[in-house]
Amino acid sequence: MTNTLLLDAAFSIETPRPPVWFMRQAGRFMPQYWEIKNKYSFLEMCKTPEIAADVTMLPVDLLGIDAAILFSDILVTGEAMGGDLSFTQGVGPKFANPIRTAADIEALETNCIHKLQYVADAIKVIQQRLNKSIPLIGFAGAPFTVMSYLVEGGSSKDFKLTKLLIHNQPQLAHRLLAKIAKVTIDYLNLQIAAGVNAVQLFDSWALALSWDDYNEFSHRYNVEIIAALNRTNVPVISFCKGSSVFAPLMAEAKPDVISIDWNVDLKDIKSRLPHNIAVQGNLDPHILYADKAVIKDRIHRLFERMRGEKGFIFNLGHGIMPDIPFDNVKYAIDVVKEFRY
Ligand code: CP3
Repeated sequence: MTNTLLLDAAFSIETPRPPVWFMRQAGRFMPQYWEIKNKYSFLEMCKTPEIAADVTMLPVDLLGIDAAILFSDILVTGEAMGGDLSFTQGVGPKFANPIRTAADIEALETNCIHKLQYVADAIKVIQQRLNKSIPLIGFAGAPFTVMSYLVEGGSSKDFKLTKLLIHNQPQLAHRLLAKIAKVTIDYLNLQIAAGVNAVQLFDSWALALSWDDYNEFSHRYNVEIIAALNRTNVPVISFCKGSSVFAPLMAEAKPDVISIDWNVDLKDIKSRLPHNIAVQGNLDPHILYADKAVIKDRIHRLFERMRGEKGFIFNLGHGIMPDIPFDNVKYAIDVVKEFRY
């Protein structure tokens, strides 16, 4: 592979500058995304390998990032298990048949990996297009975060139903989480077998949980998943919002990288983790709305702070918002690529 910056940093090998990619880089802030999106539904885009590859390649070709991320969604595992999934403009994801009873949970399928073959097919097309230039990151949603969509029926502000399930019927919650974990393991192993070079586990909404509930209803499934991956030289990146709190627990799952939100000093949290665990992050995504001089200053400030640290991947603390100016994203990447330690 020509550009190994991301894989090197993930394995805590020194790099001449930090590698850069952005969560949600294959998405709506790019006018070119809308040209495709206006012709197809989001799920059609995910399920048609040539189109998924086209979208995956947009930030590679237009921005020159150091890693590509598969164009898909974390909720496709929920759909494969039996969730009636749709995405509506302005509404977001919806499961029309939310999981509310023991019978709903029993009805979910776990031998359903064949339904996700389109993802393996997309990975093969993308790898041909990348032609060993940069690594391709695969991903899945972590069981707690996927469960929250299955139970709430869509996005939620307070996760009321999910938390009620956890607190009133913990055995049922565990039954559901175990089923999602099984499918997630199969799904990430499918992606690795198809050729992804790294995988990221998205536990986006873990921040909603108390320490004890995170430990019992999220963390232990992430431990199980990471331990069950068939991988050599394929690093695992563990992401959650709330990582500034949960990072010490996340480290126990033995990921290669922990992706850190923007509430904490990155060097400080790294110093509290085992030295072979790299960190990813952790610019506040809102910085990319700001003036270019501010963008440059904040990136340089972070890089100076991380000077001398092996195992640092530059990213945002969470995904790019759809209305961030394309030009600012491009500028941020240029600032990173010009930097030398
Ligand atoms: O990072 C990338 O560019 C790769 C593709 C990717 C998407 N979703 C494409 C997408 C990835 C990695 C995801 C992960 C994802 N999906 C997460 C975890 C990451 C995070 O931000 O915390 C979550 C929580 C979801 C669920 C989801 N999918 C939501 C809540 C929404 C709609 C609202 C929103 O936040 O945008 C989606 C839709 C979605 N996923 C879009 C894209 C490009 C927009 C679809 C459209 O064009 O209408």
